[in-house]
Amino acid sequence: QGRGSRQVADWIVDEAAPVLGLTGIAERTDAAFLDVGVGTGQLAARIAERWPRARVVGVDRMERVLGLARTVIDKAGCADRVELRHGDVTDLADDAIYDLAWLPLSFMSPDAIPKALEAVRRVLRPGGWVIATTFAADSELPIVNAMSDLVTAVNGGSSLTQEDLLVEIRAAGYSESVALPSTPLTGALTAARG
Ligand SMILES: C[S@@+](CC[C@H](N)C(=O)[O-])C[C@H]1O[C@@H](n2cnc3c(N)ncnc32)[C@H](O)[C@@H]1O
Repeated sequence: QGRGSRQVADWIVDEAAPVLGLTGIAERTDAAFLDVGVGTGQLAARIAERWPRARVVGVDRMERVLGLARTVIDKAGCADRVELRHGDVTDLADDAIYDLAWLPLSFMSPDAIPKALEAVRRVLRPGGWVIATTFAADSELPIVNAMSDLVTAVNGGSSLTQEDLLVEIRAAGYSESVALPSTPLTGALTAARG
């Protein structure tokens, strides 16, 4: 999953950022990206490579993965710009500094979702965006949906639909939302503006 995240980072830079009007990040020296659930650090490292002046903060509540992330970030040569933090998304206490945040809700339990959305909104710059993932199969075959729900549950997440997420986004105080094209690696993707 970690290695697959590198492609997700490329998709964020090449496909999502232009749609969200975030095209100047590569040149800016004050840009900041938040990676919630930084895991093995592959997504964070690739974002730092693609946006070579941006500051990247990665947070994960699983301490064990942060050691792997450290190795990946060091190897990528971007340790001076990528900060790794141990903690829950709801512990975020930064000022409103982030231009863009990645929030893989498909790996978070249903009760964590409203708090996670709110915590991220508080740390976005005015007009900054969060991109959230949801993963709910919508097959005519019940067994396909059941298998998908099982995989999501094993990943520690919940099978939230994109419609359910839009309700949560409004409740968390975001000003607008946009459905982005989904990718096979991520499921449905929704962007919301803080
Ligand atoms: C699929 S992994 C992310 C993979 C990552 N992009 C990479 O490059 O390895 C999802 C991560 O989210 C983390 N996570 C889940 N709930 C969280 C929460 N409430 N706060 C912070 N991290 C969380 C998990 O510990 C896990 O490492």
